[in-house]
Amino acid sequence: MNKALKEILFSEEEIRAKVKELGKEITHDYMDKDLYVVGILKGSFIFMADLVREISLPLLVDFMSVSSYGRNAKSNGEVKILKDLDFSVEGRDVLIVEDIIDSGYTLKYIEQMFKTRGANSVKFAAFLDKKESRKVEMEVHYKGYEVPNDFIVGYGLDYSEEYRNLPYIATLKEEVYK
Ligand code: PRP
Ligand code: MN
Ligand code: MG
Repeated sequence: MNKALKEILFSEEEIRAKVKELGKEITHDYMDKDLYVVGILKGSFIFMADLVREISLPLLVDFMSVSSYGRNAKSNGEVKILKDLDFSVEGRDVLIVEDIIDSGYTLKYIEQMFKTRGANSVKFAAFLDKKESRKVEMEVHYKGYEVPNDFIVGYGLDYSEEYRNLPYIATLKEEVYK
């Protein structure tokens, strides 16, 4: 294991099983819907790739790139769109895919925007949920695991753009980020 890592939280095998479960549930729930799956770059890219292969339905795949406004942005929830969707959400059932939810500001903002644009429904699929650091109330419809407020990397999650490619999910040693 990489020297910067403290502990493996979820192995490749555990992740695979959980994604299968979520895919099954989503397949069941979206049977008669017009599913539009939207991944939020960059963190979601691996979960997104795994999840859509476990959904046995016709669907649209798209990505959106967002960033917070300045340093304090995460505290007021303002989000800037760097890459918007390729298709219209109007009348579609949008499933937003995230690697992790922290404050909840990113998803809350995008959800509101998609609703304003006329989406038929907007739901979230997040592999990890850092519930303790949530700043807004929201329902996470499809959730992999709840995680403590540690620095978490792997399976798309980065520390300073590193570790996204780890096939498992691990915590980072404190001396690495402190
Ligand atoms: C992380 C994560 C979510 C967001 C969650 O992305 O992937 O997109 O933060 O935070 P929030 O719930 O407080 O809004 P990050 O900004 O690190 O970008 P990245 O996905 O490119 O790593
Ligand atoms: Mn992200
Ligand atoms: Mg990040």
